[in-house]
Amino acid sequence: MNNIFLIGMMASGKTSVGKILAQKIGYEFFDSDQEIEKRCGATVATIFSLEGESGFRKRECDIIEHLTQKKNIVLATGGGSILNLHNRILLKNRGTVFYLTTDIDTLMYRTTQDKTRPLLVCNTQQEQKQILVNLYQHRHPLYTEIADYIFDTSNFGVNNLVKQILLSINQTYI
Ligand code: S3P
Repeated sequence: MNNIFLIGMMASGKTSVGKILAQKIGYEFFDSDQEIEKRCGATVATIFSLEGESGFRKRECDIIEHLTQKKNIVLATGGGSILNLHNRILLKNRGTVFYLTTDIDTLMYRTTQDKTRPLLVCNTQQEQKQILVNLYQHRHPLYTEIADYIFDTSNFGVNNLVKQILLSINQTYI
C-alpha cells in the first residue's frame, strides 16, 4: 500500500504540499477535513460548534479509518488526528508518514486572520500564540512517534518541499 500521509500542525502546509505531490506522482489527493465536511454537509467550524471537539474527533476517526483503506493516495490529515491512538496505528501501518513541522512564528503568521479553525478562536495574538505553543508541545512527540520522514516547512516554498519529498521517496514511488 503505497500511500503517503501528511501529518503536522494546522497551517504546516499539508494540503498545499499534498495537492501538488499527488499531481506529480499521479495519486489521488484527499484532505480529511474536506472529506468530513462533504460527508456532513457542514464546515469543521459548524461541527465543532454543534457537537464539540469530541463529536468532530469521532467523525475524524471514521474518515481516517475509511481513507487509509484506499491505495495510492496522498492524504493531508487534520492537525489533531494523531491525538487518537487508533488513528496513529492506522497511519503508521497503512502508508508512509511525512511530518511537516513548522516553527511557531510561521504558524502565527499563517493563521493570524484565520476564522476557519475553531481551536484558534481567541481574543488576542498573544493568546493565539499560547494556544499554538501548547498544541505543539503536546503533539510534537505524537507526530514524531509515527513519522517516517520529517520536513521543516518554515523556510521552504511549497514547490521546493514537494521536490524534497519526491527525492526521499524516489526509490519507492517513481
Ligand atoms: C485541527 C486542525 C484542523 C481541523 C480542525 C482541528 C487541530 O485541520 O481538523 O480545525 O486539532 O489541529 P488542519 O490541520 O488541516 O488545519
